[in-house]
Order: sequence, then structure tokens, then C-alpha cells
Amino acid sequence: MNRAIETPADAAAIVDSDRAYVWHHLSQQKPMQEGAPMVIVEGEGLRVRDINGKEYLDAVSGGVWTVNVGYGRTSIANAVRDQLEKMCYFANSAGNIPGAKFADQLIDKMPGLNRVYFSNSGSEANEKGFKLVRQLAALKNDGKKHKIIYRDRDYHGTTITALSATGQIQRKDQYGPYTPGFVEFPHCMAYRAENGDDPDYGVQAAKELERVILEEGPDSVGSVILEPITAGGGVIPPPEGYFETVQEICTKYGVLIHMDEVVCGMGRTGKWFGYQHYNVKPDIVTMAKGVASGYAAISCTVTTEDLFDEFLADPSDKMHFFRDISTFGGCAGGPAAALENMRIIEQENLLDNVNRMGDYMMDKLHELKDKYEMVGDVRGKGLFLGAELVKDRVTKEPVDESVAAAVAADCLQQGVMIGRTNRSFHEFNNTLCLSPALICTKDDIDQIVGSIDNALAKIAA
Ligand SMILES: Cc1ncc(COP(=O)(O)O)c(C=O)c1O
Repeated sequence: MNRAIETPADAAAIVDSDRAYVWHHLSQQKPMQEGAPMVIVEGEGLRVRDINGKEYLDAVSGGVWTVNVGYGRTSIANAVRDQLEKMCYFANSAGNIPGAKFADQLIDKMPGLNRVYFSNSGSEANEKGFKLVRQLAALKNDGKKHKIIYRDRDYHGTTITALSATGQIQRKDQYGPYTPGFVEFPHCMAYRAENGDDPDYGVQAAKELERVILEEGPDSVGSVILEPITAGGGVIPPPEGYFETVQEICTKYGVLIHMDEVVCGMGRTGKWFGYQHYNVKPDIVTMAKGVASGYAAISCTVTTEDLFDEFLADPSDKMHFFRDISTFGGCAGGPAAALENMRIIEQENLLDNVNRMGDYMMDKLHELKDKYEMVGDVRGKGLFLGAELVKDRVTKEPVDESVAAAVAADCLQQGVMIGRTNRSFHEFNNTLCLSPALICTKDDIDQIVGSIDNALAKIAA
């Protein structure tokens, strides 16, 4: 990572243009207007360099759990380049070669699922899932079974309907009114549940889903959408028995299970998909971020053959097929990148690395918990981990969002980018998030956790 790209004058001009014209995501713009916005210019492995030449270890894979195979992968860039030169785009009403090959290889990794629908963002992939449920209700059930149940703390995307299915109260503030027909049920976070220590807690938490289905009327409920491990809501793995009970309930009431694998998918948790850790059979699985590790925009909505078959009526019925399109779902560069991304994960044995390095990082986080009262809980799976910060171990009162922000800012100063939950809840924006690329080493983890240790030491003092 020492390719000189800019002279200082070029760099200053780029920063000026950015400050003057770019409206950045998820950030208050004022400090950027007054200071200098960060501009990232290159990356290799887990490390990125900003326009001023400062290098960072990125412990969140592009800020939001995306660059699973790490930066600077020439083979992915070449695969995309070659594909674009040959055939960049055609609407996905027709097929393309990498799309067919990637769908085939993806389905190999997802027993029980059989059809892949391409689009270009996690939100959109989820919207496709919602539209399938709504149309199925219209086709089969006189419009009944159209309701979609979602869970407190889960996030499913940025569009108004994806936010309608999101259980993050602060993130939703000021953007309503929302799409009707979405109903929330409680989260399954053992750490903050009154009966979280009960060995039966997972079953009890899942039964909340049954309660809501019964309240709404089972004949009105079409699906439930869940993150296998909640990401931006605080890195929350399900308790023992949770998904098994969800499965029983959904089978009992004929409710489809939609798993949002936008973060967990493509190896992040040590299996290809997060749901594969549990005994659950989803009907719809959505994925985006790690599918092509950010080298191209691609998302997928994957369904069972049974669900697909529901849309195969007599072709003379003008309305009986999935009448949906995503323009950029036809970009052939997406599946070209995804194919090469998948090859890398397989050939470099990255799932194995995720399991080994995930255990190592979890041990290191437990050491931090032993050292600092402020670390109330550490949790996660594979290379998808979180540390929840509290004012008091006993009351579990969360620290203010500014404390988690100060830890992340201190790490950044030390050259390590970590994530944190932010502006999602009124009081629980207090979890540090770690999701380094699947190639990370023990040295990388030592540097990541070491920087958090330094930051916490300063704050604790
Ligand atoms: C679990 C989950 N689902 C969906 C999305 C939305 O994905 P996108 O930003 O690509 O629309 C996200 C984004 O962070 C996510 O974390």
C-alpha cells in the first residue's frame, strides 16, 4: 500500500470537493464542514490508507461488515473487469453467465433452498421477500396472511418499508408514517432479559412470537423476518433453543421464515450462513454485503422451490407471476465478483480461519471484561463480535452513546477502526462492534483488542 496517488495539492482539492459537495451517510455533517472529512484512498488485506497517508487497521470490514475477503483482491477486480468488457448489463429478465454460475454454486451451499433473485442492496433484497409474501397472500389467501412480523432490535434496511420491518426505535424516528401490516415482537437478548439466566429462556423468548401471531390472528400472518444474529441492534446471538422453537411455531401456523443474512451471510459467523448454526429451515434468505465483499453491488433473495412454484400458475393468468424488477439486478459484474469471492473463501479455507480467529478474539474480549467493570457483556459468533458497555455491572445501566463514541474515536487515533451501535435506540447505543475481514490473524486481533484496552484504560481513569 504505497502507491502514491495524490500530491498534497491534489489531496487538498479532493478534500475540498468532498466537503463542498458530498453528503455523507449516517453522519452529522457539521463537523465535516468545519474539519476535514476522511477520504479513504486504498486498501490491502485488513488495512486502508486515508488521503493524508495515515494507515488504519479496519476491524469492521469497510465500516459496515462488508469486505469479507479483505481489500486489494486483484482476482476479483479482474473477474469484474473481464465481465464488464464482455457484457456489462442486461435486464435480468434474461440470464447472464456469471449469474447462472453463481446461483448454482450458492444453492449448493444452501440445502433446502433453490431459487436466487438478484438485486443490488440488502434493503431491496428484503423488500423482494416482503413483496413475495404480499403477493402470495393475494394469490392464495384472498389478501389474508399479508402481515409480516419483525423483532425488536433487528434492522432490515433503509427504505421506508424495510424500516417498517425494523425494530430500532431511534433509527425510525422522524421517518414515518410507516407501511401498514408490520408488527413487532420482543427481542431475545439474554443479557437484558429479566429471566435471561433461565435455561429455558430461548424457548420463552421464541414463544413471544407465538403470542403475537395469536394476537394478530394466524390467518393474517404471512411471514416473520429475523436476523440470525442481530447486527446493528447490538450483536445479539440467539439463546439456546430459540430458532428451533421459532421453527415449530412457524410450522404450526403456516408462517414463512425469512432470514436476513445481509450481515451474517458469506462466512462471517464461521458457516456459510448464520442460520446454519441452528436447526431452522428458512423459506426466504436474503444476503448482500459480503456476497461480493463490496467489490460490486449485489444482493440476493433466495427461496425454496415450493415458494417459487406458487408463482408458476397457468401462464394465461396475466397477474400470476412475480411482477418485480430491479434494474441493477441485471449488472453482470455483481455475480462475477460474487463467484470469485466465493472461490476465495473456499480455497483459502476462510470458514476455518473465522472459527479459529473468532474463538481467539472472544477470549481476548473476555480478558477485557475481566479487566474493566465497564464491559458488561461480550458476545457474538465467529468474526462477528460485540462488547456492551455499562455504567454499572449490577444494574446494567448502559453508558451514554458518547462513551462508546469516545472509545471508537480513541481507537481511530491509534490507527484502528472499530464499529459501535449508533442512533438506533434511545438508550442502548452502547455496544462496540468488531467484524474484521475473514482473513485476519492473531496479530491483527491483538492490535484491535489492544487499542480498545488502551481506550478503555483512559476512559476508566
Ligand atoms: C441485517 C441487515 N439487513 C439489511 C441491511 C440493509 O442493507 P443495505 O444497506 O445494503 O440496503 C443491513 C444494513 O446494514 C443490515 O445490517
